[in-house]
Amino acid sequence: MACRSARTLFPVTATCAYMNNAADTPPPVPVAEAMVAFIEDNHSFGCQNFERWVATQERCRGAFARLVNADPAEIAFVKNTTQGLIIAAEAMPLRRGDLILVDDLEFPSNVLPWEMVARRRGARVKTIRSRVGRVTPDQVEQAVNRQVKVLALSAVQYENGFFADLEAIGEICERSGVFFVVDAIQACGVMPVDVRRWRCTALATGGHKFLMSVGGCGFLYLCADALDRLEPVNVGWLGQRDPMAFSSTYDPADGARRVEEGNPSMVAIFGLDASLALLLDIGLDAVSSHVLALGRRLVEGLETKGYRVDSPQGDGERSSITLFRGGPLSSRMLHGRLAEAGVVTALRGNGLRASLHLYNDDEDIDRLLDALP
Ligand SMILES: Cc1ncc(COP(=O)(O)O)c(C=O)c1O
Repeated sequence: MACRSARTLFPVTATCAYMNNAADTPPPVPVAEAMVAFIEDNHSFGCQNFERWVATQERCRGAFARLVNADPAEIAFVKNTTQGLIIAAEAMPLRRGDLILVDDLEFPSNVLPWEMVARRRGARVKTIRSRVGRVTPDQVEQAVNRQVKVLALSAVQYENGFFADLEAIGEICERSGVFFVVDAIQACGVMPVDVRRWRCTALATGGHKFLMSVGGCGFLYLCADALDRLEPVNVGWLGQRDPMAFSSTYDPADGARRVEEGNPSMVAIFGLDASLALLLDIGLDAVSSHVLALGRRLVEGLETKGYRVDSPQGDGERSSITLFRGGPLSSRMLHGRLAEAGVVTALRGNGLRASLHLYNDDEDIDRLLDALP
């Protein structure tokens, strides 16, 4: 299927020009149907079809693994991105005096867990200062030394949409023996993600944004080669090698599944199973090319109208997100003006954030541009 034909699957396109996918993507019809089917099954039959649910869950795990170029055994279901990052942070073998690198563009969920774990283990968090909205491989190279044990970075920054050079940064981490933890929620489902090429130790994402399902379920990738050096603290019955043995002797599952401590949101997993099928059918190269082309049209239109674009625009730096400001109105007033014209954006930083997905089209972009004073 092509992006253009998939537009008809998104009821939100009939109500507005929705460009707030970086906050929440309204699920398409097959995703809503899959979730309703699960609820009807549960409603009528209890858990008698549990084995079918588990089969769907495992298919979903495999589909996400394919999306990010991982092995299914390296994927765990988590509640959300934040929980994935907390699990990764707690699992790091950090000791007194170790350093954790973050940067000043990160969403709080990729800073707070690191500060907490540093405080308890006597480690320290050091912040890389971004330059003109970017964190570059050069800056990472300069910040890394023998004390640095972890680098935590977003693939795509939530505010300005900067897409980091993860391949070069991952190579520095690997060469320096630094665990590389990636917050990928603003990338997964809309930009190509490749845990092997990026050499990630861990990568976390949630299901309610570009993965087009609902809140309550996300994914954590844990690299198989790193697993025996990690010390996950969240343990429970579902993370055991054989959960149905109900044994209280710790015997963890071989792969990332060991951090799945208890029941997940099965309804959200049914949604994700359907959305991943759609995304893999369209292909992430097609989805990203589509949003980057729309983004180009948006940036050109904004600049023609005298607005300032704050998202980095270099080769490989762009994503689904465009942050802009300017014109005669304050950003707050402009946000309201656009909403009145049926154009949904978000207030972020000093400006407005427009975030696009596969169902957006040229008309959505022109509707935004036409509504600008
Ligand atoms: C970059 C980034 N990380 C983490 C989060 C939090 O995600 P979740 O609610 O799935 O934990 C967000 C939410 O906007 C985000 O943009």
